[in-house]
Amino acid sequence: MARIRGAARGWARWGAVGLLIPGVWLTGCAAQSPSILAPVSPKGRAEAELFWFIFLITAGVFVLVETLLLYAVLRFRARDPHTVPPQIHGNNALEISWTTATALGLAVIFAMTWRTMAATSAPPADAMPVKVTGHQWWWEFEYPTLGITTANELVIPVGRPVRLTVTSADVIHSFWVPQLGGKMDAIPGRENTLWLQADVEGVYHGQCAELCGVSHANMRLRVRVVSDADFQRWVEAQRAPAAQPVEPLAQQGYQVFMSKACVGCHTINGTPAQGKVGPNLTHVGSRTTIAAGLLENTPENLARWLDNPPAIKPGSLMPRLGLTPEEIQALVAYLSSLK
Ligand code: CUA
Repeated sequence: MARIRGAARGWARWGAVGLLIPGVWLTGCAAQSPSILAPVSPKGRAEAELFWFIFLITAGVFVLVETLLLYAVLRFRARDPHTVPPQIHGNNALEISWTTATALGLAVIFAMTWRTMAATSAPPADAMPVKVTGHQWWWEFEYPTLGITTANELVIPVGRPVRLTVTSADVIHSFWVPQLGGKMDAIPGRENTLWLQADVEGVYHGQCAELCGVSHANMRLRVRVVSDADFQRWVEAQRAPAAQPVEPLAQQGYQVFMSKACVGCHTINGTPAQGKVGPNLTHVGSRTTIAAGLLENTPENLARWLDNPPAIKPGSLMPRLGLTPEEIQALVAYLSSLK
């Protein structure tokens, strides 16, 4: 009796673990972003459908094989440990049939994968071009037809295809926004093409998907999908020259920016700052985040970043500049004014 109770407790424990695993998995799926199982683009949907198709086939195979295995183990187990079961070489008909069935299953998966790749690989002819450059550790987005360069936040109009030309300034990175489908390596000296189209307005999170150094995990990005009208407004604002500082503190910040190392690495259109190493800051105040999506773009966070960048993004190429608190406050006022 005690043995039966012990066995029941064992099964209950395994049952709980068995329920926990799909529970955790489903919770992950339910999270709004980012998941390839919550697609918001035609390409993402095609990929998610392919995933479910392959998952159902393989889950069916798993259930079938495990059922037959359990049946064989229980039905043909040795009841008397001293008798040797009859030794046979096998069953030709069974072996041929399960080999054929496996080959057919793989052929179907191959054909469906091929079909999805063919249907989603070529960008539509009217796609808006954007050049994506991966840097250690941030993303640069250049809209060649619009004359806009920005960082870490790709803004695109809803329902319109975008053709991304993906490359890198240093090591191999990988551009990946799970809900929009596709993933593309960013390779120095090479241009790979990936296209996107988002059908639902919103903010979609992305992440560099290729180990690229100490802050690989901190190399995030966002895609802001907005209405056509909002996109036009954004384009006009981004094309405008940088705002002139008006407040005395912001004017002081401008002086600090132009006299310190900042100018060597950053561009602010219409000013002497024309550096190309770090992100273009012409409209940095209009972005929702700073430091490759690590921090909300608030004055407090900007001050933290300016005080000690490597403390927030380990390995950051922007060093600790040794700015005084007064200089930091002035810079925060200036940079925040660059809407
Ligand atoms: Cu860039 Cu990982």
